[in-house]
Amino acid sequence: MAACIGKLAVFSLLFMSSVFVSANAHGFARSLLPRELGLKKEKLSHLHFYFHDIVSGSKPTAVRVAEAKMTNSSTTGFGAVVMVDDPLTEGPEMSSKEVGRAQGIYALASQNDVGLLMVQNYVFSEGKYNGSTLSVLGRNAVFSGVREMPIVGGSGLFRFARGYVRAKTHTFDLKTGDACVEYNVYVFHY
Ligand SMILES: *[C@@H]1O[C@H](CO)[C@@H](O)[C@H](O)[C@H]1NC(C)=O
Ligand SMILES: *[C@@H]1O[C@H](CO)[C@@H](O)[C@H](O)[C@H]1NC(C)=O
Repeated sequence: MAACIGKLAVFSLLFMSSVFVSANAHGFARSLLPRELGLKKEKLSHLHFYFHDIVSGSKPTAVRVAEAKMTNSSTTGFGAVVMVDDPLTEGPEMSSKEVGRAQGIYALASQNDVGLLMVQNYVFSEGKYNGSTLSVLGRNAVFSGVREMPIVGGSGLFRFARGYVRAKTHTFDLKTGDACVEYNVYVFHY
């Protein structure tokens, strides 16, 4: 009997330690306290800048990379896909201080109005924000007064970011298609 219990104890010890080892070696998820990642209080920040979308001239910052056969006959440009590396500046002038770039894609996704699907990362270069990014995914009805788009995440200083941007056209050159858009960004982050 004693031997039997002894075997059982050894067995359960082995079994439990193997469970313990496998949890460590093969587990892929565990819960974590925010402070273990150094997270303290969530902050709300407001960023303000101007977005320059330059499609004309010898140095465009927005280039069409794809389109559908019917895009040219669509009054709303439906089907066009544009890759951008647009400067973000402190003031509305191109000569104003650059604080970051908007990198990614906008695609003309609406058949009834000019409605863009925006899929972009804003990468900042200014001060403590240098190298941090915000990711925007949303709909941009460019001829509406103010457009709101969600911020779906971020990196660096903007880890765990969530929020929204409000975009308002500052200038739009009908001849060239170049645009300058004022952005107000409201973002929660740590
Ligand atoms: C659409 O128009 C542009 C410029 O007018 C032209 O370069 C392009 O080849 C046209 N695309 C198609 C699919 O017809
Ligand atoms: C931003 O970071 C890059 C790379 O780390 C560095 O080369 C650059 O000088 C920094 N810019 C500013 C404005 O601090």
